[in-house]
Amino acid sequence: MQRILVVDDAEMNRELLREILETDYVVEMAANGAQALQKLRECPDETAALLLDLHMPEMDGFAVIDSMRESGWMDDIPVLIISGENAVEVENKCFELGVADFIHKPFVDSIVRNRVRNTIELFNCKNQLEKKIERQSEALRRQEQIIRIQAEQLSTAEAFSKLMMEYRSVIMEVETRLKVLNAMFSEEYKRNPFESIKSRLKKPESIYKKLVRKDLPVTIENIKEHVTDVAGLRVICSFPDDIYRLAELLLKQDDIILLKDKDYIREPKNNGYRSLHLILSVPIFLPDEKKYVKAEVQFRTIAMDFWASLEHKLKYKKSIDNTEEIERQLKACADSIEALDYQMQEIRDKIDYSGGGL
Ligand code: GTP
Ligand code: MG
Repeated sequence: MQRILVVDDAEMNRELLREILETDYVVEMAANGAQALQKLRECPDETAALLLDLHMPEMDGFAVIDSMRESGWMDDIPVLIISGENAVEVENKCFELGVADFIHKPFVDSIVRNRVRNTIELFNCKNQLEKKIERQSEALRRQEQIIRIQAEQLSTAEAFSKLMMEYRSVIMEVETRLKVLNAMFSEEYKRNPFESIKSRLKKPESIYKKLVRKDLPVTIENIKEHVTDVAGLRVICSFPDDIYRLAELLLKQDDIILLKDKDYIREPKNNGYRSLHLILSVPIFLPDEKKYVKAEVQFRTIAMDFWASLEHKLKYKKSIDNTEEIERQLKACADSIEALDYQMQEIRDKIDYSGGGL
């Protein structure tokens, strides 16, 4: 059975109402406003309706309504006023304050029962409807959120593929410029300054890993700003001095910006790695704009490339025994290769000087 709370200072009224309602409800009683609020506070969710007298000592019905409005209980518990008050203004004021119904004294059993039942049913109906609406709004909010996330993912995917297209373009741009230099150079010196160009677009997985390693969120802006080798080119030359000549010719082009250079030929890494790395910002021409895009160009001789490829393969091989010995041998090889590079260059110079040409 549902619980209802009867609040009236006159014991006779309370008893009368109890008799009328106790076959259908558990009837709790309070003799004034303060007691009523105390009972509500104890178990606010269990009260199906509040039958409230207006005129009571200590705390009257209006004060109870005020307090219930503040606590938000008026939305959850229907309040029926039980009063001998017949003034229309008072009744209207009660309705304005949000009471559900007004039952006049003296009580007529059937009227009280019907009004209480109707009010409770109406409130239950209203509450269920509100809950249903709340559930539907929540489902709608979730759907909107999913759509928003999907839209974001789509636009990020679009922005990412556009960015990759820009990096592919800059690879083509730098490759073309180098090939043009090669052609001009070979016209003049009757030999090619580089043997081949290899290029690669960094894989999305490697881009992601690099940003994570740098402790940066994976965003388009961070890729542009912090991953300088998405567009990578490797230029394999025959002789060390070709590397510098070619790099100089490339950097002389007035629209290429050198962002950073690392000369591991003049200052090899401890393991023996040698190459010249240039990080460039190069313009590409899109249908509606000119855009500067970063590219990393590594210059190496054939011998340096042979060494680096082998060293890279060995480094990524799992479970290598005797690592120190291998590292020592690799360093020795790097030194021999360096010596070899310059010996070959000297031979070339001698042949060139004697007018032979390579
Ligand atoms: P990454 O995070 O690998 O790009 O290194 P980094 O940003 O510190 O730049 P660095 O110029 O040192 O290296 C760039 C690239 O040069 C690497 O991705 C490799 O391709 C190559 N490289 C650098 N050091 C070595 C090395 O010791 N061995 C080999 N095989 N390649 C190297
Ligand atoms: Mg790199």
